[in-house]
Amino acid sequence: MPRPAPSSPVARIPRSGIRTLMDLALRDPRAIHLEIGEPDSAPAPHVVDAVAAAARDGRTGYTSSLGLSTLRAAAADRVHRTHRRPTTPDEVVVTHGAMHGLAMAMATLLAPGDEVLLPDPTFPNWQMAAIAASAVPRAYPTRAAHGFVPDPAEVEARVTPRTRAMVVCSPNNPTGAVYPDDVVAGLVEVARRHDLWLLSDECYEAVTFDAPHVSPLAHDTDGRVIAFFSTSKTYALTGWRTGYAVVPDPDVVEAFGHLAEATIACPSTPGQVAALAALTGPQDGVAAAVASYRERRDAACALLTARGVRHVEPQGAFYLMIDVGTQATEELAHRLLARRHVAVAPGTTFGEEAAGMVRVSLAAPRDPLLEGLGRLADEIDVTVVGDRSAAALASSGA
Ligand SMILES: Cc1ncc(COP(=O)(O)O)c(C=O)c1O
Repeated sequence: MPRPAPSSPVARIPRSGIRTLMDLALRDPRAIHLEIGEPDSAPAPHVVDAVAAAARDGRTGYTSSLGLSTLRAAAADRVHRTHRRPTTPDEVVVTHGAMHGLAMAMATLLAPGDEVLLPDPTFPNWQMAAIAASAVPRAYPTRAAHGFVPDPAEVEARVTPRTRAMVVCSPNNPTGAVYPDDVVAGLVEVARRHDLWLLSDECYEAVTFDAPHVSPLAHDTDGRVIAFFSTSKTYALTGWRTGYAVVPDPDVVEAFGHLAEATIACPSTPGQVAALAALTGPQDGVAAAVASYRERRDAACALLTARGVRHVEPQGAFYLMIDVGTQATEELAHRLLARRHVAVAPGTTFGEEAAGMVRVSLAAPRDPLLEGLGRLADEIDVTVVGDRSAAALASSGA
């Protein structure tokens, strides 16, 4: 008996090229993993203790679908202190990480056929969430030559009568760009002029090296910015799955609650206990992790410069975009893994503006990171020389 074919757009979500490489790399026990953004530190002891105590005391039942009121209050307080944006607990919705929040927003705010603007290079999961919501993802460029910082005028030029939302991500994955205040203000202004939602993915808010992070919330005057935060990267709690969204519109908060009820019932309670301990406990682990990423960024860029490999120095997050001298970045990534046991994310997975580049994660431990970059430089040497000889052969008519 044939089964019915799924008719939902979810069945047509394209697979992320990062996952493809990761799955291949997991089969190679010698692989150096530079393809995935996973902090290399462990969760802080006070976070683990808080969850263990809650588990022992049986404080692990369902919570409100919007999250624990104590966590909503702690998150509101943090947003107020960090981004100087007065925030009430009622504006906070606890999510299963930033990405769950973004997917909820797209499902809640967009109708089939509505367009959502995404930065190119892009984090592929936004596109996946947009497609799952029956929306149409459209790219706006951020260019390597400008440090991958967008030009609000170029973003505005991509707005059509169907555009309903734009995603902004600073500090950015995959580029490591941190947008200056005037650019953030310009993007909020474009959203205002065209009556768009601005969905701000701030899961790397804590990881900046040279310039401060500016949240679009700081420039929002009419409640159109929804900001998504996460404990994943800041507190090395990736698999614990907790984040929170700041949602100024009470009707949207209510809709998020309904969707959460219908899908997850409530955010994981142990994850929420962890997040509460992380937000309210000592923060020295965060500062130490950021200092370590900065040191790795400096060492990685110095190595690449010494080897003559072009790259864009990241200002935040923990990713580095490297020019590999060939457009066939997927082929190069597969070859690098097969021959030199180094996994990187091919540029093709991030969009047109990442053509000819690969992304490596600076969250990998320092020694394997530098070893992996050295091997990547060796592979680029071979590839570029190979390409040059092929071009020379072609131009000589051979
Ligand atoms: C830009 C961006 N947004 C969201 C996420 C997912 O974060 P979370 O674990 O909070 O869902 C990631 C993870 O790599 C990311 O890079």
